[in-house]
Amino acid sequence: MRKLIVAAAVAAAVMASGSAMAQSPIIIKFSHVVANDTPKGKGALKFKELAEKYTNGKVKVEVYPNSTLYKDKEEIEALQLGSVQMLAPSTAKFAPLGAKEFEALDLPWLFKDEATYDKAMKGEIGKWLFKKLEPKGITGLAYWDNGFHMVSANKPLIHPSDFKGLKFRISGSKIADRYFRDLGSIPQIMAFSEVYQALQTGVVDGCENTPSNYLTQKFHEVQKDITVSYHAHLQYAVIVNSKFWNGLPPDIRQQLTKAMDDATDYTNSIATKENEDALKAIKASGKTTLHYLTDAEKVEWQKAMQPTYKWAKGRVGQEVLDLLAKELHLQM
Ligand code: LMR
Repeated sequence: MRKLIVAAAVAAAVMASGSAMAQSPIIIKFSHVVANDTPKGKGALKFKELAEKYTNGKVKVEVYPNSTLYKDKEEIEALQLGSVQMLAPSTAKFAPLGAKEFEALDLPWLFKDEATYDKAMKGEIGKWLFKKLEPKGITGLAYWDNGFHMVSANKPLIHPSDFKGLKFRISGSKIADRYFRDLGSIPQIMAFSEVYQALQTGVVDGCENTPSNYLTQKFHEVQKDITVSYHAHLQYAVIVNSKFWNGLPPDIRQQLTKAMDDATDYTNSIATKENEDALKAIKASGKTTLHYLTDAEKVEWQKAMQPTYKWAKGRVGQEVLDLLAKELHLQM
């Protein structure tokens, strides 16, 4: 009799915990470093909305913007440890994951325009790069766009010689490190959340970023001159911890994949306009001066940064450069 009571109690406990599990939503912590009001910020919120809708509330997505949960380097470590499930870092920050090949996308003047970038990433190169993450326990889900970089300082940057001796904050890529060095400047890696203060206090003289990031982080308020050079592209890879992703029930994973596909289409469709609007707002603020390069000045910059291409081979390897060259019909 006593045995029976114990068995019944155990069964009741198992049932209770089972039903509690069935009721409790799966939580996805999605951490990123930019403001909500940017292409990536809006994309993350769109994913949350669609993921919760398509899974009928079985998944809850908690979005932590603006480095509120983790800063650049910490977020990658947190993903590997499983403390956070989803991130969308710029691909310039993938070296700590042991995937330096992503940095090839930071080569200066690589993508002629948005359409060229978009087509390339939908091709072989996008898939090939994601394969590099698999052995690290990371799964790549999507590429999100954020347009082209401008560059700024407290003086006009019109000719390569204007960069000489200036300290520039870069986000992590050794390719960016190299092209700033080609220009005679001193690059320094720094977390995104620290850039405003570093510019304000003169720890660095300048930085590069897209209009939406300048506007939402107020970089334009602490930089007198911005050159709308669009010299390199900024893209994100939305990544998840593979153990978490592969451990999801298949129907849930399918619904989340659809939510990600739809959120990706949305994000990539707004990125250009978001950046155009941000540039207009920066101009309207009157807090900085915008400079545009003539064709001849652009050629000066391209020539000055050309050595980065040769150097890149030793950093990212020939294979990724060949893939890019094939996709973009370039010689590298
Ligand atoms: C940066 O650190 O400059 C950017 O990559 C931030 C971002 O995620 O757009």
